[in-house]
Amino acid sequence: MAVELYAIQKRFGRTQALQEVNLQVGEREFFSILGPSGCGKSTLLRIIAGLERPDAGVVKIGGVDVSRREPNERGVGMVFQNYALFPHLTAAQNIGFGLKSRVSKRELAERVAEMAQLLELEDSMLARRPRQLSGGQRQRVALGRALIRKPRVLLMDEPLSGADALLRERMRGELRRFHERAGTTTIYVTHDQREALSMSDRLVVIQEGRVQQAGRPIDVYRNPSTPFAARFLGSPGMSLWAMRLSCEDGVPRLHGCDGSEWTVAHLAGAEPCEVLVGARPQRMCLLPAKPASCLLRCHSATIEPQGETAIVRARYGEDEVVAMAGVEEAERLGGDVELWISPEDLHVFERASGRRLAAAGETEALDLVAASDGAGAVTGARAVAGAGAVAGAGAVAGAGAVTGAGAVAAAEADTAGGGADAPAAPSEVAAAAEALR
Ligand SMILES: Nc1ncnc2c1ncn2[C@@H]1O[C@H](COP(=O)(O)OP(=O)(O)OP(=O)(O)O)[C@@H](O)[C@H]1O
Ligand SMILES: [Mg+2]
Repeated sequence: MAVELYAIQKRFGRTQALQEVNLQVGEREFFSILGPSGCGKSTLLRIIAGLERPDAGVVKIGGVDVSRREPNERGVGMVFQNYALFPHLTAAQNIGFGLKSRVSKRELAERVAEMAQLLELEDSMLARRPRQLSGGQRQRVALGRALIRKPRVLLMDEPLSGADALLRERMRGELRRFHERAGTTTIYVTHDQREALSMSDRLVVIQEGRVQQAGRPIDVYRNPSTPFAARFLGSPGMSLWAMRLSCEDGVPRLHGCDGSEWTVAHLAGAEPCEVLVGARPQRMCLLPAKPASCLLRCHSATIEPQGETAIVRARYGEDEVVAMAGVEEAERLGGDVELWISPEDLHVFERASGRRLAAAGETEALDLVAASDGAGAVTGARAVAGAGAVAGAGAVAGAGAVTGAGAVAAAEADTAGGGADAPAAPSEVAAAAEALR
């Protein structure tokens, strides 16, 4: 089922958690909501689930406005951060929780067995309590509990945050494969850009409650529309440094703090302004790879070996520039470092507004002007549109606040003693019960 969000607003006291969020998630899509801690990811997911009421805006699922519907009427399944399993129930009882009052005992047993098979949970595990399961097994139980009612939309809130690095990597692949088998529209919240890049059909980058950019992972990575998105994606993120754009005699040029000057033919007509120029660390070289490469003279370099490669951090004016190099090559470096960048790998943003002035990789349509002194033309142009604005949406009249169900009082009381590595917050256990009523 497609999920559409129109002009969603949410404020908690003085905190504007979400501002004019417009998003469309296609049927069967694996869609990630990506952003740093506190940017509003969970709030957005809880609004889709109906566990939180927006101050304004409309939520549609399958084309139908569900803004006023209760969580259990929306056809969504939710996997909470830290799983929020009921600690006093077995794995099988956890999986069956949302169906228990709706079907016969026999059907319940069949559906739980079917789900266990799908999730490759053996019989011996089904009789165990959550604290007797590994992190990966707990995660599968949480998935089973969300999926047993055959939700139209599966919502996952940082489901891998409790797992160690190796398990996370394995579970990434498992979740993606599972999605391909089940074909359920999935909305996945994470602050880990590697997860979002590796699993999603599309993603949205959120900062301080605002959509920065939405698109296919590769498109957002290659053509970030804001400096924030540029820095947030990639490992390490994009390096950005200050330059000045001039346009004397109609020739646009970028001026660096070290006196370097790069002609940027495609920015003809651009108003002179302060800019941020960026490049991916993997695209910066210690030697000029191409004749028209741009030269950045940096100083105070430090090296962080990573095995085969090393991260080189150096200063360029006020900014830190990060490059990747072979570890042996990097270890030969002194404090002063020359970094060479192919013009088509440069990204240019207006400093004041963050608006993109040049899109990397758009070389074909543009004139490359090689300049002397290793400086070349910056290629690309055109601002890259982020998630298009979507009109509409009236205020949602709030039904009463969603509270925890009494049925989980015992579960809440038992949570602290659950023995999980990262026990779920009682409020999440209560919310899980609410959504599964
Ligand atoms: N119930 C609440 N009462 C008050 N403020 C809240 C409440 N829930 C969230 N907030 C605030 O709203 C903002 C967004 O919170 P949210 O939990 O959505 O962030 P998040 O992106 O999920 O962060 P994290 O990655 O740390 O889980 C934060 O500033 C948070 O402190
Ligand atoms: Mg969160």
